[in-house]
Amino acid sequence: MPAPDPFALPVPVPTGNPLRSRATWLLSHGLARRLLLREAARGDLLAGLAMDPALRADPFAGYEELRRRGPMTTTRLAAGTVDHAVADAVLRSEDFGVAGGHGELPRPLQWLLARVFDNRATGPVDPPSMLALDPPEHTRQRKLVSRAFTARKVGGLEDTIATVAARLVDELAAGPERVDLVDRFASRLPLVVIAELLGVPEEDHDRLLAWSNIAAQSLDPGLSWAEFRRIELAIRRLHVWFDAHVERLRKHPGDDLLSRLATLDGPDRPTEDELKATGLLVLGAGFETTVNLIGNAVALFDSHPDQLAVLRDDPGLWPRAVDEVLRFDSPVQITLRQAHRDTEVAGVRVAGGTAVLTFLGGANRDPAVFADPQRFDVTRGNADQHLSFSAGVHYCLGASLARLETKVALHTLYDRFPDLRVDGPPVRRGTRVLRGYEHLPIVLGDAAGRPTTQPASTPSSRA
Ligand code: HEM
Repeated sequence: MPAPDPFALPVPVPTGNPLRSRATWLLSHGLARRLLLREAARGDLLAGLAMDPALRADPFAGYEELRRRGPMTTTRLAAGTVDHAVADAVLRSEDFGVAGGHGELPRPLQWLLARVFDNRATGPVDPPSMLALDPPEHTRQRKLVSRAFTARKVGGLEDTIATVAARLVDELAAGPERVDLVDRFASRLPLVVIAELLGVPEEDHDRLLAWSNIAAQSLDPGLSWAEFRRIELAIRRLHVWFDAHVERLRKHPGDDLLSRLATLDGPDRPTEDELKATGLLVLGAGFETTVNLIGNAVALFDSHPDQLAVLRDDPGLWPRAVDEVLRFDSPVQITLRQAHRDTEVAGVRVAGGTAVLTFLGGANRDPAVFADPQRFDVTRGNADQHLSFSAGVHYCLGASLARLETKVALHTLYDRFPDLRVDGPPVRRGTRVLRGYEHLPIVLGDAAGRPTTQPASTPSSRA
């Protein structure tokens, strides 16, 4: 019997015109895919980093090869950098904007794209998502949402995060000793936090989880037609669910970001498209990234038990350890920008129109910034200079929330299961922009007080 579809909806969902959908795929992914595969086969390292499964599994050797070639590598396809100063300057420069802005394309192509794209199921990184906008449109949208991520608001979520983490480790302690960390822990905490921000009731949590997995794949370039169509159909369902969800929130608003935006009046009121784009972006940008960070951290501590011992002796180092995980194995590996005009960044000339891949995971291992960069070291003083949250106007809005969630999650987990070990081959996700584990089998080992009815201590108050 086929597994039940966790995203099935009790109402019909439009599947869209398949011809239009095919044309959209061709323009947004199909042509790029052909080009990327061809250039990767010819040895283009930038294309290889996007398409070659071996480099996808372990991009770090590719990054070091790019570093040997200089601060910016330009190929027939694009330019790319793993140089921290150059990447940082590109991300902060007003001479660069989000790539694929229709303004850079010839007019007939702009016309065609507008006809095809306008009707499609817009995903978390399609306009009007703020991640796909340049100022001044970007500034207006970001301002609306940023109120939900002030230090006070994030601090206000700390108790919820600690309570959920404590409940999750209690559930682990009461269950089997061998579990998939991603399924039973890493995905659960961020899910509750995102649901909280978007006012999503518990009965819809599994839908949110299923959709987020698919949304994460939509960030990759050069998707195949089958991948694209699967994602598109899922996003169409999400749109139907989202519209009904916003309707519910308008009738019964809660104390969450989406309720506030959905009931806003006056000049700040977002359009329906903007509202949806914001909801999908928070889901797409804020969920899988944090799941990946928690999974990457557990895998790293497993291969570096000495670092875990350092944290056991000095729990005050947990915040720094989270930044070191972000630096060493970033959940977001790549961002893309396009030069609006001829310019120079950190001493490197870039021609107008050039697409520049900033390899965040590579910049994070730049020896000019990080001493002995291939070493995972939770005591590293400048770990927080990583670019894993990007830089400039698109700097991650959820950075402090992600740091808080991960610190509490890891501290709570290792407090309860000091002997936790990876047990069995981990499975990496197939995504290129995002990097993390789909499955991470672990054995919990003896738990401190396992099982217990006592709520776990809240390490956030100690670290
Ligand atoms: C470990 C976790 C996370 C990582 C590594 C991460 C990384 C990033 C990166 C690299 C960008 C910018 C991309 C670019 O410059 O093109 C970004 C933007 C963004 N992130 Fe995060 N993120 C994380 C968690 C979160 C969370 C928890 C939320 C919210 C709940 C969130 C919300 C956003 C939003 C709204 C943007 C768009 C900002 C803008 O365009 O102005 N992120 N994130």
